[in-house]
Amino acid sequence: MARPVVFSGIQPTGSIHIGNYFGAIKQWVTGQDDAENIFCLVDMHALTVPQDPAALRAQILETATVLLAAGIDPAKSRLFVQSDVREHGELTWYLSCVAAMGQLGRMTQYKEKSEAQRGEVRVGLFAYPLLMAADILLYRTTHVPVGEDQKQHIELTRDLAQRFNAAYGGVFVLPEPAIPAAGARIMGLDDPTKKMSKSVAGSYHAIRVLDPPEQIRKAVMSAQTDSGREIRIDPARPGVTNLLAIYMAASGTSAAEAEAHFAGARGYGDVKKELVDLLVETLRPLRERYAELAADPATVHELLCAGADAVRPIARATADAAKRAMGV
Ligand code: ADP
Ligand code: NA
Repeated sequence: MARPVVFSGIQPTGSIHIGNYFGAIKQWVTGQDDAENIFCLVDMHALTVPQDPAALRAQILETATVLLAAGIDPAKSRLFVQSDVREHGELTWYLSCVAAMGQLGRMTQYKEKSEAQRGEVRVGLFAYPLLMAADILLYRTTHVPVGEDQKQHIELTRDLAQRFNAAYGGVFVLPEPAIPAAGARIMGLDDPTKKMSKSVAGSYHAIRVLDPPEQIRKAVMSAQTDSGREIRIDPARPGVTNLLAIYMAASGTSAAEAEAHFAGARGYGDVKKELVDLLVETLRPLRERYAELAADPATVHELLCAGADAVRPIARATADAAKRAMGV
């Protein structure tokens, strides 16, 4: 059987936080030997909401540098910037000619985001799932690691591939969603009922992997807790549950081990202090490696160009197959 092809995308829309790191990037790094891995900085997706061009350009470089610092190895995996491979835009058009308006209108994320945007909703926001489908289908992807929130888009991708294959012949491989095995879900420190996200503002919402130790300390110490003193996982107490989730992810312990570890703690203060030290130490190698790589942006740029050069022939072959099948 052919090797599985795993495609993962990340939006360069803000600094990488520990939710991205423990929930996704760490698994990407450890899984590099198990499959053909394609990691894409999806900068064209970022354009579906207004962006400052200079900030976006800087964020693309920062995100790439963080991924390399975290251990994405260009010798094993492909790492590239979406807009460097023009076939993403090209295939989006072909897919838009088989997709129905109603299908896209039913996407939950579109409904939520377009309501939040009010006033002018851009066509790009509506068409976003087509670009995502193109990202996946171009590389004959077999597995797409995604959270629950993206499953609907994977189903749409499969549906579009099936519609296309039925109308024009078997061009596309149907991808499967892959729910990450040890996918920690980290919540916001300021509000542990909402997931930690790049797109949420606030100085103590997230811990970014590049935060200096003092910022990590302030964020953890200010984390919202709940009443009760017992250090235990309990859905009714999202604050302490989130602190434990972060501890488990950073220390590689199970729930039972983490609870046992803190059995003698006198309160949240003890847990927070230990968490600060653990996070500072866990993130130190990444931060140090980042500083080295960031001193040489030309090398990072070259790696991204090499990544794009490596995947472009695959993308070109798929786009050509789709193009010919459609008669153009
Ligand atoms: P964000 O919401 O921070 O912008 P993305 O949508 O770019 O994150 O997701 C990048 C990757 O990080 C995805 O694989 C996603 O599942 C994962 N991820 C994002 N936020 C979290 C979180 N709070 N906890 C765990 N994983 C997360
Ligand atoms: Na996001």
